[in-house]
Amino acid sequence: MKYFIGNWKMFGIPKSINILNKINSFSSRDKNRNRYRVIITPPYTLLESFSKNFKNKRIIIGSQNCYQKDKFSSNTAAISSYMIKKTGAKYTLIGHSDNRLEGDTDTILKDKVKLALENNLKVVFCIGENKLQKKKKQTFSVLKKQLKKVLEKKLNKNNIIVAYEPIWSIGTGKIPNQKDLSKTVYFIKHILKNIFKKKSPEVLYGGSVDENNVKMFKQIKEIDGFLIGGASKSSKKFIDIIKNYYR
Ligand code: 13P
Repeated sequence: MKYFIGNWKMFGIPKSINILNKINSFSSRDKNRNRYRVIITPPYTLLESFSKNFKNKRIIIGSQNCYQKDKFSSNTAAISSYMIKKTGAKYTLIGHSDNRLEGDTDTILKDKVKLALENNLKVVFCIGENKLQKKKKQTFSVLKKQLKKVLEKKLNKNNIIVAYEPIWSIGTGKIPNQKDLSKTVYFIKHILKNIFKKKSPEVLYGGSVDENNVKMFKQIKEIDGFLIGGASKSSKKFIDIIKNYYR
């Protein structure tokens, strides 16, 4: 199963559902539809209405983040996994570099992952090195630390997917070369196999994926799908990514 996940970040108002209606109708007719899953993570404000609208349809709704405390607490503007689950959302991203930059430490992320899983959300755990770390050839050590500090054997491994998003690639149009990316995804899977004792952990790639470069990514067999930012805000681009992937 491949994943095409659209992360809307700070984008979307109620009428943006039109974008998803188009993606949904494409995907319901697509002959390849049984080979992939479409997940969209709109902002919190749209989780409930979108989840209701796409219940039992082709698009699965997820959250972009969740809070590190359970159920209800006195933290202004915070949204817990419990609250997200009650909107009907099925997934949550955790550890996106935007949120790491805003203060999400490994300890916080560990709490987030634990609570999300306890509330029966599937987790897309994001990791990735920055430009300087890449330059210093620290990519592998950074990724290993990000994984080992947060993920552990006792977690429900079947509900965790990892998304590799090199920070230098997000929103820049720059993408890793095929050989490096292939090695990195292989490395991440190796670590995950060690942590979870699982045969085939799923690893996605994210960072400037678009309808043109998706063909190159397809060559890398280890990649189980994509986390797509900018291009997920256009139904045409998002649909073209899926079409070109299977062409
Ligand atoms: P872009 O596809 O815009 O580079 O964003 C990637 C991303 O951060 C998805 O979470």
